[in-house]
Amino acid sequence: MFVSARSFEEYRAMFSLSDHDLSLRILDCPGGAAGFVAEAGARGADAVAVDPQYGPGREGLGELALRENEHKHAELVERAGEYDWSWFGGPARYTRMRSRSARAFGADVAARPGRYVAGSLPDLPFADRSFDLVLSSHLLFSYGEQLGEGWHRDALLELVRVSRGQVRLYPLFQHTSNKRYPALERMRESLAECGVPSRVERVDYAFAPGDPEMLVLECAGARAPAGASREGGGTSAAFDPVRWRHLEAER
Ligand SMILES: C[S@@+](CC[C@H](N)C(=O)[O-])C[C@H]1O[C@@H](n2cnc3c(N)ncnc32)[C@H](O)[C@@H]1O
Repeated sequence: MFVSARSFEEYRAMFSLSDHDLSLRILDCPGGAAGFVAEAGARGADAVAVDPQYGPGREGLGELALRENEHKHAELVERAGEYDWSWFGGPARYTRMRSRSARAFGADVAARPGRYVAGSLPDLPFADRSFDLVLSSHLLFSYGEQLGEGWHRDALLELVRVSRGQVRLYPLFQHTSNKRYPALERMRESLAECGVPSRVERVDYAFAPGDPEMLVLECAGARAPAGASREGGGTSAAFDPVRWRHLEAER
Protein backbone atom coordinates (compact mmCIF):
# COMPACT_ATOMS: atom_id res chain seq x y z
CA MET A 1 0.00 0.00 0.00
CA PHE A 2 1.22 3.47 -0.88
CA VAL A 3 1.00 6.57 1.32
CA SER A 4 -0.20 9.37 -0.92
CA ALA A 5 -0.50 13.14 -0.54
CA ARG A 6 -3.69 14.24 -2.24
CA SER A 7 -4.45 17.93 -2.10
CA PHE A 8 -7.25 19.96 -0.54
CA GLU A 9 -8.50 20.75 -4.07
CA GLU A 10 -8.63 17.04 -4.91
CA TYR A 11 -10.60 16.34 -1.72
CA ARG A 12 -13.03 19.14 -2.60
CA ALA A 13 -13.60 17.55 -6.01
CA MET A 14 -13.57 13.86 -4.98
CA PHE A 15 -16.11 14.47 -2.20
CA SER A 16 -18.08 17.36 -3.77
CA LEU A 17 -17.35 19.41 -0.64
CA SER A 18 -19.41 22.61 -0.31
CA ASP A 19 -18.50 25.63 1.83
CA HIS A 20 -21.11 24.38 4.32
CA ASP A 21 -19.42 20.94 4.46
CA LEU A 22 -16.16 22.69 5.32
CA SER A 23 -17.80 24.41 8.30
CA LEU A 24 -18.46 20.98 9.91
CA ARG A 25 -16.27 18.88 12.17
CA ILE A 26 -14.52 16.55 9.71
CA LEU A 27 -12.49 13.34 10.01
CA ASP A 28 -10.11 12.31 7.21
CA CYS A 29 -9.61 8.51 7.43
CA PRO A 30 -7.04 7.56 6.22
CA GLY A 31 -5.17 10.85 6.10
CA GLY A 32 -1.87 9.47 4.74
CA ALA A 33 0.30 12.45 3.78
CA ALA A 34 -2.67 14.33 2.28
CA GLY A 35 -2.74 18.10 2.63
CA PHE A 36 -6.48 18.18 3.38
CA VAL A 37 -6.37 18.75 7.16
CA ALA A 38 -3.55 21.29 6.84
CA GLU A 39 -5.16 23.31 4.07
CA ALA A 40 -8.70 23.03 5.45
CA GLY A 41 -7.32 24.09 8.86
CA ALA A 42 -5.65 27.13 7.29
CA ARG A 43 -9.12 28.10 5.99
CA GLY A 44 -10.56 27.80 9.53
CA ALA A 45 -12.03 24.29 9.22
CA ASP A 46 -12.15 21.88 12.17
CA ALA A 47 -10.58 18.78 10.61
CA VAL A 48 -8.68 15.82 12.08
CA ALA A 49 -6.87 12.96 10.30
CA VAL A 50 -6.27 9.39 11.44
CA ASP A 51 -3.85 6.86 9.94
CA PRO A 52 -1.75 3.94 11.24
CA GLN A 53 1.32 5.83 9.98
CA TYR A 54 0.85 8.63 12.55
CA GLY A 55 2.80 6.79 15.25
CA PRO A 56 6.48 7.45 16.01
CA GLY A 57 8.34 8.83 12.98
CA ARG A 58 5.31 10.55 11.48
CA GLU A 59 7.33 13.82 11.22
CA GLY A 60 9.24 12.19 8.36
CA LEU A 61 6.12 11.24 6.38
CA GLY A 62 5.82 14.57 4.55
CA GLU A 63 9.41 14.36 3.33
CA LEU A 64 8.95 10.71 2.24
CA ALA A 65 5.77 11.63 0.36
CA LEU A 66 7.58 14.52 -1.32
CA ARG A 67 10.40 12.28 -2.53
CA GLU A 68 7.88 9.65 -3.64
CA ASN A 69 6.08 12.27 -5.70
CA GLU A 70 9.25 13.44 -7.40
CA HIS A 71 10.15 9.81 -8.13
CA LYS A 72 6.67 9.15 -9.60
CA HIS A 73 6.79 12.14 -11.96
CA ALA A 74 8.97 10.48 -14.63
CA GLU A 75 6.68 7.43 -14.63
CA LEU A 76 3.61 9.66 -14.98
CA VAL A 77 5.12 11.43 -17.98
CA GLU A 78 6.10 8.13 -19.57
CA ARG A 79 2.66 6.56 -19.01
CA ALA A 80 0.63 9.75 -19.48
CA GLY A 81 -1.68 8.05 -22.00
CA GLU A 82 -3.02 5.73 -19.28
CA TYR A 83 -4.56 8.56 -17.24
CA ASP A 84 -7.42 11.00 -17.62
CA TRP A 85 -5.90 14.50 -17.37
CA SER A 86 -9.16 16.42 -17.68
CA TRP A 87 -9.03 17.46 -14.02
CA PHE A 88 -5.27 17.93 -13.46
CA GLY A 89 -4.41 19.33 -16.87
CA GLY A 90 -1.20 17.26 -17.08
CA PRO A 91 1.61 15.58 -15.11
CA ALA A 92 3.32 18.89 -14.22
CA ARG A 93 0.29 20.25 -12.36
CA TYR A 94 -0.29 16.84 -10.73
CA THR A 95 3.24 16.75 -9.32
CA ARG A 96 3.11 20.41 -8.27
CA MET A 97 -0.16 19.94 -6.37
CA ARG A 98 0.89 16.70 -4.66
CA SER A 99 4.28 18.14 -3.67
CA ARG A 100 2.63 21.24 -2.21
CA SER A 101 0.30 18.95 -0.23
CA ALA A 102 3.15 16.84 1.12
CA ARG A 103 4.91 20.04 2.28
CA ALA A 104 1.71 21.42 3.84
CA PHE A 105 1.14 18.08 5.58
CA GLY A 106 4.73 17.99 6.96
CA ALA A 107 4.51 21.55 8.28
CA ASP A 108 1.07 20.98 9.85
CA VAL A 109 2.08 17.73 11.58
CA ALA A 110 4.90 19.70 13.23
CA ALA A 111 2.71 22.72 14.08
CA ARG A 112 -0.53 20.95 15.11
CA PRO A 113 0.37 17.34 16.04
CA GLY A 114 -2.93 16.84 17.88
CA ARG A 115 -4.76 16.96 14.54
CA TYR A 116 -3.01 13.75 13.40
CA VAL A 117 -4.11 10.71 15.39
CA ALA A 118 -2.60 7.21 15.13
CA GLY A 119 -5.28 4.59 14.52
CA SER A 120 -6.46 1.87 12.17
CA LEU A 121 -9.72 0.67 10.77
CA PRO A 122 -11.72 -1.18 11.89
CA ASP A 123 -11.02 0.22 15.40
CA LEU A 124 -10.78 3.99 15.48
CA PRO A 125 -9.79 5.79 18.69
CA PHE A 126 -12.83 8.11 18.74
CA ALA A 127 -16.10 8.11 20.66
CA ASP A 128 -19.38 7.37 18.86
CA ARG A 129 -20.67 10.24 16.70
CA SER A 130 -17.55 12.40 17.17
CA PHE A 131 -17.68 13.98 13.68
CA ASP A 132 -20.29 15.56 11.42
CA LEU A 133 -18.63 14.33 8.25
CA VAL A 134 -16.15 11.50 7.68
CA LEU A 135 -14.13 11.40 4.44
CA SER A 136 -12.37 8.25 3.29
CA SER A 137 -10.25 8.25 0.15
CA HIS A 138 -8.24 5.52 -1.54
CA LEU A 139 -8.38 2.74 1.05
CA LEU A 140 -11.76 0.98 1.12
CA PHE A 141 -12.74 -0.44 -2.28
CA SER A 142 -9.43 0.73 -3.82
CA TYR A 143 -7.61 -2.11 -2.05
CA GLY A 144 -10.54 -4.51 -2.46
CA GLU A 145 -8.28 -7.31 -3.68
CA GLN A 146 -5.97 -7.04 -0.65
CA LEU A 147 -8.46 -6.22 2.13
CA GLY A 148 -11.13 -8.87 2.78
CA GLU A 149 -14.90 -8.44 2.55
CA GLY A 150 -15.23 -8.94 6.33
CA TRP A 151 -12.71 -6.17 6.88
CA HIS A 152 -14.61 -3.87 4.53
CA ARG A 153 -17.91 -4.48 6.36
CA ASP A 154 -16.29 -3.81 9.77
CA ALA A 155 -14.45 -0.75 8.45
CA LEU A 156 -17.65 0.75 7.01
CA LEU A 157 -19.54 0.18 10.28
CA GLU A 158 -16.67 1.80 12.18
CA LEU A 159 -16.67 4.89 9.93
CA VAL A 160 -20.46 5.09 10.48
CA ARG A 161 -20.03 4.73 14.25
CA VAL A 162 -17.85 7.83 14.54
CA SER A 163 -20.10 10.00 12.31
CA ARG A 164 -23.29 11.77 13.34
CA GLY A 165 -23.90 13.02 9.79
CA GLN A 166 -22.40 11.44 6.70
CA VAL A 167 -19.54 9.23 5.56
CA ARG A 168 -18.29 9.83 2.01
CA LEU A 169 -15.97 7.36 0.29
CA TYR A 170 -14.02 7.68 -2.95
CA PRO A 171 -13.33 5.89 -5.28
CA LEU A 172 -15.58 2.85 -5.65
CA PHE A 173 -13.20 1.07 -8.05
CA GLN A 174 -10.26 -1.18 -7.22
CA HIS A 175 -6.87 0.26 -8.12
CA THR A 176 -5.75 -3.11 -9.49
CA SER A 177 -8.47 -3.31 -12.19
CA ASN A 178 -10.13 0.13 -12.30
CA LYS A 179 -13.41 -1.84 -11.99
CA ARG A 180 -16.02 -1.26 -9.32
CA TYR A 181 -15.50 -3.14 -6.03
CA PRO A 182 -17.50 -6.36 -6.68
CA ALA A 183 -19.11 -6.59 -3.20
CA LEU A 184 -20.29 -2.96 -3.14
CA GLU A 185 -24.02 -3.79 -3.35
CA ARG A 186 -23.70 -6.42 -0.59
CA MET A 187 -22.01 -3.78 1.60
CA ARG A 188 -24.80 -1.30 0.89
CA GLU A 189 -27.46 -3.91 1.80
CA SER A 190 -25.67 -4.66 5.12
CA LEU A 191 -25.54 -0.95 5.88
CA ALA A 192 -29.24 -0.48 5.03
CA GLU A 193 -30.06 -3.25 7.54
CA CYS A 194 -28.26 -1.13 10.18
CA GLY A 195 -30.36 1.96 9.37
CA VAL A 196 -27.75 3.50 7.07
CA PRO A 197 -29.14 4.40 3.63
CA SER A 198 -26.56 5.08 0.95
CA ARG A 199 -26.31 6.49 -2.55
CA VAL A 200 -23.72 6.59 -5.30
CA GLU A 201 -22.97 10.04 -6.73
CA ARG A 202 -20.86 11.01 -9.72
CA VAL A 203 -18.22 13.61 -8.87
CA ASP A 204 -16.25 16.14 -10.86
CA TYR A 205 -12.79 14.57 -10.48
CA ALA A 206 -10.80 12.37 -12.82
CA PHE A 207 -7.42 10.70 -12.90
CA ALA A 208 -7.29 6.88 -12.85
CA PRO A 209 -9.50 5.40 -15.57
CA GLY A 210 -12.33 4.12 -13.27
CA ASP A 211 -15.75 5.79 -12.90
CA PRO A 212 -15.49 8.96 -10.77
CA GLU A 213 -18.13 8.03 -8.17
CA MET A 214 -18.38 8.46 -4.41
CA LEU A 215 -20.52 6.54 -1.93
CA VAL A 216 -22.49 8.66 0.56
CA LEU A 217 -23.70 7.03 3.79
CA GLU A 218 -26.39 8.76 5.89
CA CYS A 219 -25.57 7.93 9.51
CA ALA A 220 -28.19 9.83 11.56
CA GLY A 221 -30.40 6.75 12.04
CA ALA A 222 -27.60 4.19 12.37
CA ARG A 223 -28.01 1.32 14.85
CA ALA A 224 -25.54 -1.41 15.84
CA PRO A 225 -25.79 -4.52 13.63
CA ALA A 226 -27.82 -7.41 15.12
CA GLY A 227 -25.51 -9.91 16.86
CA ALA A 228 -22.54 -7.69 16.06
CA SER A 229 -19.31 -9.63 16.13
CA ARG A 230 -15.96 -8.82 14.64
CA GLU A 231 -15.02 -12.48 14.40
CA GLY A 232 -13.90 -13.38 10.92
CA GLY A 233 -13.60 -9.66 10.31
CA GLY A 234 -10.69 -10.27 8.00
CA THR A 235 -7.90 -8.77 10.10
CA SER A 236 -5.30 -11.07 8.58
CA ALA A 237 -6.54 -10.22 5.07
CA ALA A 238 -6.10 -6.55 6.04
CA PHE A 239 -2.32 -6.83 6.19
CA ASP A 240 -0.88 -4.86 3.33
CA PRO A 241 2.54 -3.36 4.16
CA VAL A 242 3.26 0.25 3.30
CA ARG A 243 5.60 0.74 0.36
CA TRP A 244 7.65 3.69 -0.87
CA ARG A 245 8.59 3.27 -4.53
CA HIS A 246 11.47 5.75 -4.34
CA LEU A 247 13.15 3.73 -1.56
CA GLU A 248 12.66 0.47 -3.48
CA ALA A 249 14.27 2.08 -6.54
CA GLU A 250 17.29 3.13 -4.47
CA ARG A 251 18.05 -0.45 -3.39
C1 LIG B 1 -3.34 5.55 -0.68
S1 LIG B 1 -3.18 6.26 0.92
C2 LIG B 1 -4.51 7.43 0.91
C3 LIG B 1 -4.20 8.62 1.81
C4 LIG B 1 -5.09 9.85 1.59
N1 LIG B 1 -6.48 9.58 1.85
C5 LIG B 1 -4.93 10.39 0.19
O1 LIG B 1 -5.89 10.27 -0.59
O2 LIG B 1 -3.86 10.92 -0.14
C6 LIG B 1 -3.76 4.93 1.92
C7 LIG B 1 -3.53 5.12 3.42
O3 LIG B 1 -4.25 4.13 4.14
C8 LIG B 1 -3.56 3.92 5.35
N2 LIG B 1 -4.04 2.65 5.95
C9 LIG B 1 -3.59 1.40 5.73
N3 LIG B 1 -4.29 0.51 6.46
C10 LIG B 1 -5.19 1.23 7.18
C11 LIG B 1 -6.18 0.90 8.14
N4 LIG B 1 -6.41 -0.38 8.51
N5 LIG B 1 -6.92 1.89 8.68
C12 LIG B 1 -6.73 3.18 8.31
N6 LIG B 1 -5.79 3.56 7.40
C13 LIG B 1 -5.04 2.60 6.84
C14 LIG B 1 -2.10 3.89 4.91
O4 LIG B 1 -1.22 4.13 6.00
C15 LIG B 1 -2.08 5.01 3.86
O5 LIG B 1 -1.66 6.23 4.44
